[in-house]
Amino acid sequence: MRLYVNIDHVATIRQARRTDEPDPANAARLAEAAGADGITAHLREDRRHIQDADLEALARVTRTVLNAELALAPDVVAFVCRLRPFQATLVPERREEVTTEGGLDLSRKDPRLVETIAHLTAAGSRVSLFIDPDPRAIDASADLGVPAVELHTGRYAHGWRSSGAALAQLAAAAKHAAGRGLAVHAGHGLTYLNVQPVASIPEIEELNIGHSIVSRAVMTGMTEAVALMRSLIDEARR
Ligand code: PXP
Repeated sequence: MRLYVNIDHVATIRQARRTDEPDPANAARLAEAAGADGITAHLREDRRHIQDADLEALARVTRTVLNAELALAPDVVAFVCRLRPFQATLVPERREEVTTEGGLDLSRKDPRLVETIAHLTAAGSRVSLFIDPDPRAIDASADLGVPAVELHTGRYAHGWRSSGAALAQLAAAAKHAAGRGLAVHAGHGLTYLNVQPVASIPEIEELNIGHSIVSRAVMTGMTEAVALMRSLIDEARR
């Protein structure tokens, strides 16, 4: 199973100060060295974390593959088409949301979606649609002719402690999607505590995980970071 590491929140920390650290491209190199099979970054319309220059840098330095997440915003679509990432995952986006809250609404055929899939495909990117684990959304994705879907694991991530229903829904959706000939990815809200049941679903071939990995990296890196600052200050006073 492939692990794609989403490095958006490395940029979130940098944007808190609008400075040049930490650098998402450096984080991508480290993630790859540690075993990531791909790097995922979401260029949001509001540019709240990843910036255009970050995506350009990631397209240049990524040694594995780049999975660009994007919504149907025309300027973002045009930019991503120019960068030609290995994969482009289309997601819904609402300005007021903290993170991507639900899958794409495929209940009616949106000509903008059809056009965007065509543009990204013509640019050479493999298009994946981020959808809820719902058979209707899976059928609609298959009808749109995309090679892959990413199943939204948010409902599972919120309720996994109290109920197995969302996991069963994910497993059924993964089976249904694979049966329709779609490559099955999954992600959102996966953590060190809840990842394994999802990673055990045989049809899922790729997981996209961000927030939990960046959160843990902050904690596991804290000891070394403080010790280095401590030693620099102590050295200056010697
Ligand atoms: N997959 C998609 C399509 C997403 O939009 C996100 C969040 O940016 C993720 C996966 C990763 O979610 P998390 O940061 O909760 O691991």
